[in-house]
Amino acid sequence: MRLLVCGGAGFIGSTFVRLRARECGDQVTVLDKLTYAGRLENLQEVRDDIRFVQGAIEDPVAVAESIGGAEAVVNFAAETHVDRSIADPEGFIVTNMQGTHVLLEAARERGLRYLQVSTDEVYGSIDDGSFTEQSPLAPSSPYSATKTGADLLVSSYFHTYGLETVICRGSNNYGPHQYPEKLIPLMILNALAGDRLPVYGDGGNVRNWLFVEDFARGIAHALAHGRPGEVYNCGGPDECDNLTVVRRIVELAGADPDLIEFVTDRPGHDRRYSLSSAKLEALGWQARVRFEEGLERTVAWYRDNEWWWGPIRSGGYREYYERHYGRALKA
Ligand code: NAD
Ligand code: DAU
Repeated sequence: MRLLVCGGAGFIGSTFVRLRARECGDQVTVLDKLTYAGRLENLQEVRDDIRFVQGAIEDPVAVAESIGGAEAVVNFAAETHVDRSIADPEGFIVTNMQGTHVLLEAARERGLRYLQVSTDEVYGSIDDGSFTEQSPLAPSSPYSATKTGADLLVSSYFHTYGLETVICRGSNNYGPHQYPEKLIPLMILNALAGDRLPVYGDGGNVRNWLFVEDFARGIAHALAHGRPGEVYNCGGPDECDNLTVVRRIVELAGADPDLIEFVTDRPGHDRRYSLSSAKLEALGWQARVRFEEGLERTVAWYRDNEWWWGPIRSGGYREYYERHYGRALKA
């Protein structure tokens, strides 16, 4: 298949590109702005097999340059970190909403299939049970509100223009190549370096953990088998509260448990996410990696791949970290 993959230099997008280029033999063009979260290092294994265009999805010229010949568009491109959206929402509105609109127009002009990568956060927080695709949308943060706005726009292009759209909503991903602002890679790198491990609030917030390769396969499955106009949830096989996750990382990294510290909670912090994936499972997708195994693999990957994270920990990331956590990382 000929694919335009937007945001393909990020964590999940690059996992999807590696899967499609290596296992499926697809012709892939990646369009990516290369923000702080987008890295060509993530694509180095397939660099000779794909076409790469540096550009923004909200730029119609860059989109027109990269979309030629594509049969389908898969959109991963987004501003993705909740804490950054709370500090400064504007860029989230431009990329996540305006950018999605530009891509939808380009797909409509050319009659392409369009898959939007979305998130469980559009449903908000749930105390008991799991969200289905019928659950009401109730986003809490500027990040999730812009992802919800984008989903609604995608649905409107199906209903109004008959564009062949599919939305795939994932739960919390983890695995190799994740930028270390997110809970799991941040805690792994801090634990390996002997830095403090900042747990928000009481650490009782629960996330539904999904290994990144399982999500990449879920998106590929929805792209191939999803019905136009439909939404498919793609949730992980296990749920775990943050403090338990951090304690397990401490064990796996051989770090001192006293590094754990409770810090001021995130404003509007969603307590629990949980997705039912029954609809995608009925199409034949199944998560393969349980959380315990995936976490061990992830800690081992970060331990063995300092070439990947070393430059991040020594660059602008340090400024972000100091501003956000009010303390410096060790040198
Ligand atoms: P990421 O932050 O690692 O990567 C985002 C990528 O998008 C980067 O390569 C970045 O350079 C690119 N990008 C950002 N703005 C752009 C723009 N304006 N134009 C073109 N490219 C741009 O994100 P991720 O964690 O890989 O998430 C990918 C998608 O999956 C996002 O849409 C996110 O909402 C969704 N999602 C993420 C998770 C998760 O747990 N990480 C779970 C469910 C859904
Ligand atoms: O649920 C899917 C979403 O998962 C994606 O749509 C988002 O793009 C992705 O960022 C992620 O959002 P979360 O807010 O759940 O992930 P994050 O890694 O930022 O935080 C996970 C949990 O850990 C959350 O309860 C907040 C907490 N946390 C996070 C950080 C960074 C801490 O306790 N300390 C921290 O330093």
